[in-house]
Amino acid sequence: MLTLGIETSCDETGVALYDDARGLLAQALHSQVAMHERYGGVVPELASRDHIRRLLPLTRQVLAEAGVALDAVDAIAYTEGPGLAGALLVGAAVAQSLGFALGVPTLGVHHLEGHLLSPLLSADAPDFPFVALLVSGGHTQLLRVDGVGRYALLGESVDDAAGEAFDKSAKLLGLGYPGGPAIARLAESGTPGRFELPRPKLHSGDLDFSFSGLKTAVATRIARGLPTEQSRADLAAEAQAAIVDVLVAKSLAAVRATGLRTLVIAGGVSANRRLRERLADASARDGLRVCFPEPALCTDNGAMIAFAGALRLRALREAGLAVPHAGGFDVRPRWPLEQLAPA
Ligand code: KG4
Ligand code: ZN
Repeated sequence: MLTLGIETSCDETGVALYDDARGLLAQALHSQVAMHERYGGVVPELASRDHIRRLLPLTRQVLAEAGVALDAVDAIAYTEGPGLAGALLVGAAVAQSLGFALGVPTLGVHHLEGHLLSPLLSADAPDFPFVALLVSGGHTQLLRVDGVGRYALLGESVDDAAGEAFDKSAKLLGLGYPGGPAIARLAESGTPGRFELPRPKLHSGDLDFSFSGLKTAVATRIARGLPTEQSRADLAAEAQAAIVDVLVAKSLAAVRATGLRTLVIAGGVSANRRLRERLADASARDGLRVCFPEPALCTDNGAMIAFAGALRLRALREAGLAVPHAGGFDVRPRWPLEQLAPA
């Protein structure tokens, strides 16, 4: 079964073709970073308009790369939410129109489920059950994952997400958007520990996170003066270390609490090198299996949407249930992952 995946929830237009038998056939991505950069963040209306410009050319490109005609597509999956309403509507409208024209199953996918299942696309895919740390621009959650759609929330951020902490710290330091990669780059020439930032909720005894105090601490430190490029790099390194320390400690606590031996990290922040290194160390020390998506699949992309859609459709068929077809549609800008039904 050939599934076309369409992702337009925020500032990346992603399209991919996933085949149940052969895996990922082709994928294309257009990032709007250059367009939003001068505004210091995503401008929703500009995002929607750019998705309109990019989506069909990217779809043609993916079909050509895979050597597949449009009418060979068996199903269409698109991001239904959460995300920016206007941006989601572009993907939903194109997906539903294509699905209607082709007369094939058409399915709205939860963006975070896409991230969560993306490590299963790698050759060395983890088996269920596992603990997942979902770290994106809008979410920081620890989940117990027993199967597709079987997600139990173990803990989450009570305020800012980890990606948001990177983005806001970067903005305070005058670095570009998105902030995660910018902080990570500057941190390479810095030394953590020269400035001391808090590790919020590190010893709270629960599996929740809080990152909003961190940006205040960064702002306070900047207000006291950072005269040299070296001191800016040191503060970036400490901000990154503070976020990573908390993410690592809570993930390992979740592993202990559940008794599971596999930890999956997904979402944009999972691209962070320090986070990967720290978890690789923990894995070597504790004999824990730690799985990341391939770097290209960490941030938003169409492949994870095609894949999650294909798994959902397969599950519906195996259960003898009806698969959804194109028709009236809506998007869900706010959509808690726990509301998803098991597959
Ligand atoms: O999953 P994603 O692409 O979009 C959302 O669904 O939010 O995540 C974007 C977030 C941004 O906050 C960005 O700064 C962060 O992921 N990010 C990183 C890195 N690459 C992206 N954070 C830390 N280190 C990175 N290398
Ligand atoms: Zn995302």
